[in-house]
Amino acid sequence: MRLTLAVLALTFARAAAPDAAPDDAAVYAQGELLYHAAGCVGCHSVPGLPHLGGGRDNPTVFGTFYAPNISPDLEQGLGSWTEGDFFTAMRDGRAPDGHLYWPTFPTMAYTKMSDADIHALWVYLSAQPAVKSEERAHEPRRIYSLPGMLNLWRLMEFRPGPMTPDPTQTAQWSRGEYLVQAVTYCDQCHTPRSKIGRMRRGRTMAGGANLGKFEVHPNLTPHPEAGIGAWSEDDMVRFLTTGEKPDGSVAREDWVMHEKVRDSYSRLSEDDKRAIYTYLRSLPADDFDPEARYGDAAP
Ligand code: HEC
Ligand code: HEC
Repeated sequence: MRLTLAVLALTFARAAAPDAAPDDAAVYAQGELLYHAAGCVGCHSVPGLPHLGGGRDNPTVFGTFYAPNISPDLEQGLGSWTEGDFFTAMRDGRAPDGHLYWPTFPTMAYTKMSDADIHALWVYLSAQPAVKSEERAHEPRRIYSLPGMLNLWRLMEFRPGPMTPDPTQTAQWSRGEYLVQAVTYCDQCHTPRSKIGRMRRGRTMAGGANLGKFEVHPNLTPHPEAGIGAWSEDDMVRFLTTGEKPDGSVAREDWVMHEKVRDSYSRLSEDDKRAIYTYLRSLPADDFDPEARYGDAAP
């Protein structure tokens, strides 16, 4: 129902204000930017494999999940999908046949994207060449493939629907919140989680770890020692552009942040990088030390 309304709203907006409709090239460019900034590229366009052919294996504590082909190929990809199917996938984490997707496809973030951004992604994806690729079945750990497990996870962690900006905040802050939570999903990595994987909401961005392929995700709150309180706005812009930290070191090449900066975040506009800083700066300073908490799990 929500979907139909969203599609109707889009159609209506176009019909009502044809002059205001962004031109096709601009929408395509926006989709291309989002494909990178939102990290789709890292899972669905693996170096050495066909563009949009998928193939990234994602080892997690829940099992290993392979990114599928999302090119316009009729058999393997999205060739037979409507834009409505794509909205259902992104907004509701659900396939056209109704089955739920594994959360490795980060729909808990993408569900918060605006209609215009999901539409732009669809325009970009539909315009790419169809490719064939090797298909691999997911390997969930047995307990997580029990019936109802994904429904349980959704009850805990999935809040469907686009984000509504907080009216008491500035447009720049809201842009930062949107980028962090809906597009780049910094919060999914940089927030501590409970044993069963729930994000600790009161401790947003206080740091976390990826226990599938061990990596520590630093505390990004404004805490002067535990977090990045000492970073200036320009420090953040430089880091998100080059991976270089204020102390001159660079994000580790064998950990995911390096790739994220190179392939995703460096493409954001400078204004967007500054908006991310503004949002992070407004969070409560948290003294959580993810290295002390998770460091022992290092192999
Ligand atoms: C961390 C890896 C990862 C990222 C980032 C990611 N995906 Fe995926 N994606 C997956 C995996 C794994 C699946 C398969 C989920 C399943 O089968 O339950 C998937 C499934 C999909 C599907 C469903 C395909 C089908 O045949 O049903 C679409 C569409 C999709 N992704 C689009 C995107 C877009 C667009 C983005 C960026 C906005 C994106 N993905 C980002 C890993 C990822
Ligand atoms: C897929 C997980 C993941 C996502 C998403 C992610 N990060 Fe990171 N981030 C990491 C890891 C891992 C490191 C540690 C890299 C290192 O220090 O070598 C890191 C390090 C950092 C650092 C360095 C902090 C320090 O004290 O050294 C900053 C700043 C940072 N990330 C900001 C961001 C921002 C801003 C976003 C969203 C735009 C983001 N990250 C998204 C995993 C992630």
